[in-house]
Amino acid sequence: MFKKLSKKKIMDALETVIHPKTGTSVVTAGAISDVSVKDAEVFVTLQIDQGTAGIMEGVRKKCDEAVEKLSGVKSVRTVMTAHSSAANGAAPAPAGQNQAPKKPAPKKGFGHGKRPPPTPEPIKGIKRIIAVASGKGGVGKSTTSINLAAAFAAQGWKVGVFDCDIYGPSVQRMLGEGAKPEFTAEDMIRPVTRHGMKAMSMGYLVPEGRATVWRGPMVIGAVQQLLHGVAWAEDGDLDVLIVDLPPGTGDAQLTLVQTVPLTGVIIVSTPQDIALIDARKAYDMFVKTETPILGMIENMSTFICPSCGEHTDIFGHGGAKETAAEKDIPFLGEIPLHLDIRTHADDGTPIVLAEPEGEHAKRYLDIAHKMMKGLMDGTAG
Ligand SMILES: Nc1ncnc2c1ncn2[C@@H]1O[C@H](COP(=O)(O)OP(=O)(O)O)[C@@H](O)[C@H]1O
Ligand SMILES: [Mg+2]
Repeated sequence: MFKKLSKKKIMDALETVIHPKTGTSVVTAGAISDVSVKDAEVFVTLQIDQGTAGIMEGVRKKCDEAVEKLSGVKSVRTVMTAHSSAANGAAPAPAGQNQAPKKPAPKKGFGHGKRPPPTPEPIKGIKRIIAVASGKGGVGKSTTSINLAAAFAAQGWKVGVFDCDIYGPSVQRMLGEGAKPEFTAEDMIRPVTRHGMKAMSMGYLVPEGRATVWRGPMVIGAVQQLLHGVAWAEDGDLDVLIVDLPPGTGDAQLTLVQTVPLTGVIIVSTPQDIALIDARKAYDMFVKTETPILGMIENMSTFICPSCGEHTDIFGHGGAKETAAEKDIPFLGEIPLHLDIRTHADDGTPIVLAEPEGEHAKRYLDIAHKMMKGLMDGTAG
């Protein structure tokens, strides 16, 4: 019944879609790297340059629409992919300033593609890359990321923040919306500057909720492009790039560890048992991928009543410290559950900057100080 649906017909339909860079059709531009048809379901692979996912999203939709119109098409799905030079088989870049040891490319588990995973490649101009992870959502990774970033910056480091949560980005909200990212003359995305820090988040590029329909390969492509396709160091080298991860151990985490050499990862957990179980899963994944674990932070450690100052251990207390001891990883500190931490994050200014003399800022500053010391003298991780 669907016999007439040939690849040629699909390519002809795609001829109507214009590539913004060349002004010719996406077919002529060589951007269609694959078309396959199975039971009237069409899959199109659109090859894009690193760092252009935001712009090319419209083209991707046009490809879908052009093919959808053909008779005999039940469904069509166009996915964007971008190769890094390493993925194309080029030799990996020489070890740069990122200080993590080179690790062998993992053999399996890289998303859904058939291509082998790329070799981690340092980002030029970034000295250290530290990821903030947890097993569970809502434990305060993003809050911890932006406050630690601010604490590093307050102590003299040049800092970047990369929101690796493609489906549920929050860095743009917690650091505040600045000017929209632009492109540099080299076609790199220029990050937003907020509170003296460089920041990049899917939230700056696409309307909220837009990426929630993305599939694995697009998440992989987006993470790769936002790491290597962003002009992080235009105003000078960054001492550290803080990567705010989504919860769990999915595409974003794997792509991150396979795309750049991580200096290490910080695991955030609440003291609750369930959060700790998930934190252990995150721990296991980073051990498996040979990522140094810099330590654990207990967030929402104790509830401090904003009116009377009384401490209540809503989620228990000390669980993360015990887990850190059990796993023999450094315990970096406890952050209480306090209304001001949330309201300042919601207002777009981390509490470390909004109340720099306060008790909460001091906690974050202490953790950052401890980490900076460990990272400089090589005892961290
Ligand atoms: N220590 C804290 N005190 C008060 N509110 C917090 C604290 N940590 C996080 N929150 C709030 O909890 C919610 C979830 O935190 P978030 O950082 O977005 O978690 P995650 O990134 O792990 O999903 C946010 O509304 C945030 O403002
Ligand atoms: Mg988050």
